[in-house]
Amino acid sequence: MKEIILNLQKNSNEPLYIQIYKYIREEITANRIKRGAKLPSIRHLADYLNVSKITVDNAYQQLLVEGYIESRQRSGMYVQHIEEMLITPIEVNKMNICPTPSFNHIKYDFHYGTIDTDSFNFNIWRKLTSQVLKSSKVQLLQYGEPQGELDFREEIAKYLRLSRGVLCSSDQIIVTSGTHNSLQLLCELIDYNDRSIAIENPGWSNAKFIFEKNNFEITPIPLDKDGICLKTLKENSSKFVYVTPSHQFPSGIVMPITRRQHLLRWAKNSKTFIIEDDYDSEFRYMGRPIPSLQGLDDDERVIYLGTFSKSLAPSLRMSYMVLPKKLLDKYKQNVSMYEQSTSRLNQKTLQLFMADGYWERHIQKMRKVYRKKYSLLIKSIEDYLNSNVRLIGGNAGLHILLEIRNGMSEDMIIQKTEMAGVKIYPTSKYWMTHSDLEYPIFLIGFGGLSENQIIEGIELLGDVLNSN
Ligand SMILES: Cc1ncc(COP(=O)(O)O)c(C=O)c1O
Repeated sequence: MKEIILNLQKNSNEPLYIQIYKYIREEITANRIKRGAKLPSIRHLADYLNVSKITVDNAYQQLLVEGYIESRQRSGMYVQHIEEMLITPIEVNKMNICPTPSFNHIKYDFHYGTIDTDSFNFNIWRKLTSQVLKSSKVQLLQYGEPQGELDFREEIAKYLRLSRGVLCSSDQIIVTSGTHNSLQLLCELIDYNDRSIAIENPGWSNAKFIFEKNNFEITPIPLDKDGICLKTLKENSSKFVYVTPSHQFPSGIVMPITRRQHLLRWAKNSKTFIIEDDYDSEFRYMGRPIPSLQGLDDDERVIYLGTFSKSLAPSLRMSYMVLPKKLLDKYKQNVSMYEQSTSRLNQKTLQLFMADGYWERHIQKMRKVYRKKYSLLIKSIEDYLNSNVRLIGGNAGLHILLEIRNGMSEDMIIQKTEMAGVKIYPTSKYWMTHSDLEYPIFLIGFGGLSENQIIEGIELLGDVLNSN
């Protein structure tokens, strides 16, 4: 048969067996591997691609199930004859745009971006939306204020002052449609000569992506037990530093107050701006919240980013940033270039939600819901996973990290858990350097799963991991 030229992406999120399966499937449908051709043996292909036999076996199993190949006894795997193919070319095309079959049977998806949807009060949201529609009428059809609706910004300023210690006026707040949007807008305010940034390693890859796209020179800074390593940071002369101090993403480290003070002092002396991404600070399950960096800053050094994605719903695409004076002036110079990207209807509805006290009640309720889920998750890990796992971070936010030390590689764990119907998320993509990762570490989100799903999912995960 023809040679297999497949460039496997070992750092990709897509499991290796899916990459092999897709490659062979495409070769067959494009008729580059002819009907009736014999595929290489599992051992041969595994050696050739330098992957485990189980990886190739899983890929072949998927091709078998879908009828692309057949197994002939004591002979091997053969590409199906055309008249025996179960699918017409049109269906093949459709298949290519469908999610891969392996995702269809995922029963327990520990995805990190999901929230508890049962707790969203649709009745109240509906009532407030229609109230806005009735009172605002045609006004709602026009462009709104570029910075965001004033009443809404005032509610945000009030909330930030009381709950996060952020000291700002509504005039410093820019409403945005997601943190990506905040970062992009911020990049546009930064001169080309100043485009250098230190970022946490590991850290949020989406932020790194945006800085890269905006031609920033990026320096990864390792973490120590208190968050971004100040010693390494001090050796660097970037003009900006991006941090997630309240719940470092993904490690979960909460930066203690002394580190915050040292970071601010260093930023003041070195004239560096700090971008503080406070994405899920509403949820802390032990102790009291630590005030934001912005509230401790006496030198206008902090750009504060917040979002409603974790606390309310990611689909609303509502977030904001608080700018210090220098950058605010820059924004104001160009304000006529920017239109607000979030719907006025949603801004006004959320403003009423906050002004009428629903927001505070919602946050209190969500803290209870997530604290319960968090406790169940930790208990299930203790009950069902043996001593080969180590819990990292925790006590805040909607995810934890699990280091798995049972001898399986990251790819192997992904394959085996997905085959069993559980999805957990590798963190390797958040590291800019891999060298110090001794064992694979996975991100386990729990916000969107029910309590029962959390228990059952971890039990199933235990079956897979403990069986090695
Ligand atoms: C570090 C970090 N910041 C911000 C966000 C929120 O992004 P957005 O506001 O675009 O939903 C997330 C969400 O996953 C995140 O992990």
